[in-house]
Amino acid sequence: MGIPASTLEQIGQRLDLVEVIGGFVSLKRSGRNFKGLCPFHPEKSPSFMVYPAKQFFICYGCGAGGDLITFVMRHEHMEFKEAVQVLAEKAGIQVSFTTGGPSLANRPLYQAHETAAAFYHEKLTASPEGEPARAYLAHRGLTPETWKALRLGFALNRWDGLLTHAREQGMDPSLLERSGLAVRREGGEEAWYDRFRNRVLFPIWDQRGRVIAFGGRVLGEESGPKYLNSPETELYVKGRLLYGFHLASSAIREKDLGIVVEGYMDFASLYQAGIRNIVASMGTSLTPEQVQLIRRLTRHVVMIYDGDYAGEMATLRGLDLFLEAEMRVKVVGLPSGLDPDTFLAQAGLEEMLRTIRQSQDLFDYKLGLLTRRYDPKDLQGRIRISEEMLPTIKRVTNAIERGEYVKRLSEVLRVAETLIWSELGRVRKEGSAAPRGAARPEKVQPAAGMTVEESLAGLLLEEPGRVRQVEERLPLEAFQDAHVREILSRLRQMSQSGAIPPDGRTFLASLPREDSGAWEGRIARWLAWADLVVDKEGTLEELLGKVKEGQVRSSLEALQVSIRQAEAQGQERETAQLIAQYNTLMKSRLSGKGVA
Ligand code: GTP
Ligand code: MN
Repeated sequence: MGIPASTLEQIGQRLDLVEVIGGFVSLKRSGRNFKGLCPFHPEKSPSFMVYPAKQFFICYGCGAGGDLITFVMRHEHMEFKEAVQVLAEKAGIQVSFTTGGPSLANRPLYQAHETAAAFYHEKLTASPEGEPARAYLAHRGLTPETWKALRLGFALNRWDGLLTHAREQGMDPSLLERSGLAVRREGGEEAWYDRFRNRVLFPIWDQRGRVIAFGGRVLGEESGPKYLNSPETELYVKGRLLYGFHLASSAIREKDLGIVVEGYMDFASLYQAGIRNIVASMGTSLTPEQVQLIRRLTRHVVMIYDGDYAGEMATLRGLDLFLEAEMRVKVVGLPSGLDPDTFLAQAGLEEMLRTIRQSQDLFDYKLGLLTRRYDPKDLQGRIRISEEMLPTIKRVTNAIERGEYVKRLSEVLRVAETLIWSELGRVRKEGSAAPRGAARPEKVQPAAGMTVEESLAGLLLEEPGRVRQVEERLPLEAFQDAHVREILSRLRQMSQSGAIPPDGRTFLASLPREDSGAWEGRIARWLAWADLVVDKEGTLEELLGKVKEGQVRSSLEALQVSIRQAEAQGQERETAQLIAQYNTLMKSRLSGKGVA
């Protein structure tokens, strides 16, 4: 790594997070902790918390989080080594490291993705087996130039297409597993199968244009999930990036406008038509991190989501996020049943561009939608409309604009403006109306956005000694989340050599880092959650039970896959064996007994 652990330790001992952050952010005491306005996103009320006992910070608004070094990296836009250097100087410590960097450990993962992207692309463009995929993409109207520009690929209809290729390249299959590209098989030891099979693949890039994941679409309208995406890995954290961001960033900056769509196909066809200031959110719920990505380039956004209920709901949530970030957001409301891709195909580019130019102001869009959903002539309907409009109006920072919206809402609802103003005063930004003065509880929702595995990791980070409790109950493979697994495996090694860190802080300091700071952000969230858990032992037990149940479920799924495959290849003995395994597992689950 290049930086001696002792240097990091000394920094931790000599510098206080509250003091350092306090130099940049004005912090106020809040119970045992401190809060202030987040330096990483614009906000009016503080959601940035600093936890002195654990020496980490987290922003509940934008998701930024981490320790002292992360803070300096993000705030000063520094690389890990630079940040350490600055802090070491501040602490009066001699530093003498030269080479190495935080991303060194991830280099093989990038290489694995690069190899995979090249392999899949070659299969799409130049192999006989790629014919069905080429036909499908052509049928979807995408030209070979676009396949090339987006580096689309094709995963063969085989269980070991990529695996075989990787082996030929001398790559260890476990690296593909860590990359989420191969899945370990149940039943046989040291055996894997390709995650992506018989799908058109969209490589997903990070902001620097490195492939870090894939999204795979079935050819045609077969049953099963339409898209299969890479799982979260050390490189890929969902919701932290936008599809196509690195291709679009210069166009977004130039046009001073970012267009946001939902799907890969929407991106591809608009991109092909020459609309280049575009990104895709990959699924429906936009995150504050994604909003911040665009905000670095422009303050103007047009959202074009699908013309269906899910798309409308997603648009509404997105609107508020952009408003919160003090951005100007407009909406293209597509006719029901159409998405940007199909609209472009039906109406043509001119019409598409015209709709974008004439996109609706967010207020009109939301109000229009609500008046279709609730009856503005009916009292209950008017109450619902005002309840849903007010939090949005509250987010509008410009007073003149806010005044205009209040006026228009009063016209639609046919009530006096003063009434709207007084309701607006009672409304909290977070959601529906609540009495003024009701203190916002300073509490994280335990399960909010946290997976079972993440919660479990949070508890362990707080008290590393509890790893024994986990060790007794579950093998490492029971965990799906690559970050969680990494933490567990480190703790296990430490526990086996009798060197469990005394507290979370010591352990945190020993973890590797990433350029992206993604991991640190996750960890900070987990810690913040764990901090609030009262019955840690009982909660951990409960979580372990849930992971176990998940493990059994995924074992069953993997066994099904193996059975089908063995059957197809006529391996009768193996098929029978696998079926027996499946039955045993199934029975033990039904009888409620855990499986060791
Ligand atoms: P096409 O049907 O090929 O035109 O796809 P699309 O680009 O129109 O995507 P759609 O609007 O159906 O979905 C939007 C996005 O949601 C996709 O790009 C995916 O990121 C995600 N998504 C859609 N279906 C699935 C699915 O079955 N599983 C997962 N994991 N993600 C999905
Ligand atoms: Mn579509």
